[in-house]
Amino acid sequence: MKKIYKLPALDYEFDQLSPFLSKELLTLHHDKHHQKYIDNANSILEKIDQSRQNQADVALDSLVKDLSYNVGGHVLHSLFWKNLTPDQQNKEMTDNLKLFLEEEFASVKNFKKEFSLVASKTQGSGWGALVYCPKTQRPFLMQIQNHHLNIYPGFKLLMVLDVWEHAFYLDYQTDKKSYIENFWDFVNWTRVSKRLEAARK
Ligand SMILES: [Fe+2]
Repeated sequence: MKKIYKLPALDYEFDQLSPFLSKELLTLHHDKHHQKYIDNANSILEKIDQSRQNQADVALDSLVKDLSYNVGGHVLHSLFWKNLTPDQQNKEMTDNLKLFLEEEFASVKNFKKEFSLVASKTQGSGWGALVYCPKTQRPFLMQIQNHHLNIYPGFKLLMVLDVWEHAFYLDYQTDKKSYIENFWDFVNWTRVSKRLEAARK
């Protein structure tokens, strides 16, 4: 039996990210939006599987593009939930991560400023991301369009921020700036540090 994608459970309760995100917004975002990308990806995989079994032609070119969009949505949302935490103990940045960011961005404060700018300037729908370049061992900022464009292939994702309108509109309306500012109070730095350690191996 071939595996398909499944919606991951959150590591916290839906009301625990308040005041960054309300219970209503997080529930809608996780249960409806994230689920939709999973359903779409699984449905495309099923179409491709069936066409292979039946040796029937399908519009593979467009299916593969749609698959990239929906799998990208699933992967990024799965990481986004893990990037967030209500626990104070996970909000402390490790010395290694601090040093890593300071070497590239001069200070953690400047890193946050640059990341926020890149995320806020996303055209249309997209994501801000902190990634690790395996060749230079440096952190890069990435501005992902939709879920799958403008990426650096093979770079390791360390942290992402969803800046699609569905990620904030219910709580912030058009105030994307406040949404991004409040994000910093709920980042799971423990998780980001672990992803950096894994990326460096
Ligand atoms: Fe989203």
